[in-house]
Amino acid sequence: MTTIPISPVKVHISDKIASAVYEGLMSRPKWLPSWLFYDAAGSRLFDEITRVPEYYVTRTERAILSKYAGEIVTRAAAGNLLRIVELGAGSADKTRLLLSAAIERQETVFYEPVDVSASALVEAQMRIEDELPGVIVCPRVQDYTHDLELDSTLPNERRLLMYIGSSIGNFEPGESLMLLERVRAAMDPGDCFLLGVDLVKDESVLQDAYDDAGGVTAAFNRNVLVRLNRELDADFNPATFGHRAVWNAAESRMEMHLVSAKNQEVWLPGIDLRVPFEVGESIHTENSYKYKPGAAESLLAKAGFWPETTWTDERGWFAVSMARAV
Ligand code: AVJ
Repeated sequence: MTTIPISPVKVHISDKIASAVYEGLMSRPKWLPSWLFYDAAGSRLFDEITRVPEYYVTRTERAILSKYAGEIVTRAAAGNLLRIVELGAGSADKTRLLLSAAIERQETVFYEPVDVSASALVEAQMRIEDELPGVIVCPRVQDYTHDLELDSTLPNERRLLMYIGSSIGNFEPGESLMLLERVRAAMDPGDCFLLGVDLVKDESVLQDAYDDAGGVTAAFNRNVLVRLNRELDADFNPATFGHRAVWNAAESRMEMHLVSAKNQEVWLPGIDLRVPFEVGESIHTENSYKYKPGAAESLLAKAGFWPETTWTDERGWFAVSMARAV
């Protein structure tokens, strides 16, 4: 019997990616969703971004959590046992700060990371159980942007749900409200929610953070084109697209764009699309919303939480807000 091999290109096309790319590149202005950044190479590049000197976001939030971890878990527990739930599979060293603080108060801590990626969860589970004896990891494979369901708790147990890292910054205002409402619905009265948001600051600081001198953020931005070449068989020449980071004051967000350096046409056989670019025309690849002081608390209240405390750094660059489900 003869079998005809299916083209490997076609096999790897994900419908979700194909339809998002088709919609975005057919739009004027052109755009691509920012979740496309995070293939294996993009995740590594983001990890590298968190260590470049200009990207203050990760280290500022880490400093806040490091300083207040004890206070955060004590407040959240309010005399009960604490179970820590994280949206996203472990922000590595930042999550560890809260887990360590919780272990000091109780012998065993259940940690429930929620992520769409099973491999990210397995990696987080191995790392955390290895480094933090006393933590029992109960991973949950779920797309929390669409639905969220949590393990039930014991009568003397309360949840601390963490959504840190300014991850909420990638959502449009209406989307972030819906996300928080959905999270609130999955929680029980008495549970706590911990939200990390990046704050509005000097434009030059933001600009440098999203356009570092070493070019790591530029590589992260261009990697989305490399991904489309691989997964949709496209013929983007990433070197012909410039990295641009701009502060949009009216919308209170940093934007990233890829700007075509010349007139060109790109072919994406995987979605049967030819895309023309004029010189200077751009693809909008990311919005990263920056919050004004008090804005996170208002959003949390709108979503049905009772904001309790907000911790920030001395420069007021980042805020970690705790709110209670009542
Ligand atoms: C992972 C969404 C928090 O918006 O700062 C970093 C992604 N983009 N540099 C952010 C990102 C460019 C990051 N978040």
